[in-house]
Amino acid sequence: EMSPQEQAFQDRVDKGEKIEPKDWMPEGYRKTLVRQIGQHAHSEIVGQLPEGNWITRAPTLERKAILLAKVQDEAGHGLYLYSAAETLGVSRDELLDKLHSGKMKYSSIFNYPTLNWADIGAVGWLVDGAAIMNQVPLQRTSYGPYSRAMIRICKEESFHQRQGYAIMMKMAQGTPDQKNMAQDALNRFWFPSLMMFGPSDKDSVHSAQSMAWKIKINTNDELRQKFVNETVPQAKYLGLTVPDEKLEWNEEKQGYDFSEPDWSEFFEVIKGNGPCNRERMDARVKAWEDGEWFRDGLNAYADKAADRRKA
Ligand code: ACO
Repeated sequence: EMSPQEQAFQDRVDKGEKIEPKDWMPEGYRKTLVRQIGQHAHSEIVGQLPEGNWITRAPTLERKAILLAKVQDEAGHGLYLYSAAETLGVSRDELLDKLHSGKMKYSSIFNYPTLNWADIGAVGWLVDGAAIMNQVPLQRTSYGPYSRAMIRICKEESFHQRQGYAIMMKMAQGTPDQKNMAQDALNRFWFPSLMMFGPSDKDSVHSAQSMAWKIKINTNDELRQKFVNETVPQAKYLGLTVPDEKLEWNEEKQGYDFSEPDWSEFFEVIKGNGPCNRERMDARVKAWEDGEWFRDGLNAYADKAADRRKA
């Protein structure tokens, strides 16, 4: 049973009104947003690690400049998203503390290694491609600050996807060895990319309530299907093979039938047992600890400046 206040809130959501930071909102709505926006922010930040790993080894100066810009964009996305989460009454320090202590999640995909340059192409094409597929509808999410952050992020994200596809194109049209590298990267990133959309709808604990509140606009399976439908022709254009024997066009549903990812692998990865979970968390915690002297210095300077203004 909804209270009159909750009913009034739901009516606003149903009418498509944006909810703003100072508006009344149910505690569950606030908590769900803090969880989702916080996780999303953490994903952007942790997501810099697998690609940052290749900045020093990019094959040309141009590729290096592009990758550097892209990885910096991800840092910016993380910062907008932490700011959006802060409007809900949670501090950035609190969110980071929860990430570092393993109490908050970040996207499963960033726990897979990037072994060679073709992987950077596959990450841009598939991982950023999946990210946009999920984020375009989130531009219409009911919470104002999140929705506005998504508009800017999607513009940058579509450039990321194109730079990944451009790398894949170069590799796929290169020597046989380069083409094999591109195929191998696709083989390894295909199913982990499908996992980015979350568990299948029957196992998605939050979807129903999040969709009623218009925090989420689509179910996990809807977006996964859309991603497969758009990505398979792109793979064909590259002359690469999607590593799924069950993949087949289904005329009736106007979409591809495809194999589900290995969900036991997904649940292991989000529990912390993926190939790179430890490495990623160690790198984040080290960065946080190494930055302590700098944060302390900034705070000391801010305090002094405030004292001086008082005097
Ligand atoms: N990686 C890690 N955890 C995941 C993933 C994933 N790919 N998918 C689902 N989960 C977690 C959920 O967070 C939830 O765990 P929790 O209750 O401890 O928070 C659990 O699995 C069950 O999943 P759902 O009930 O389906 O969760 P939800 O409704 O939040 O849907 C989704 C998951 C689709 C990822 C949603 O949170 C979302 O759209 N988030 C915003 C987009 C985002 O975070 N993108 C980050 C990757 S892209 C990038 O940053 C480049």
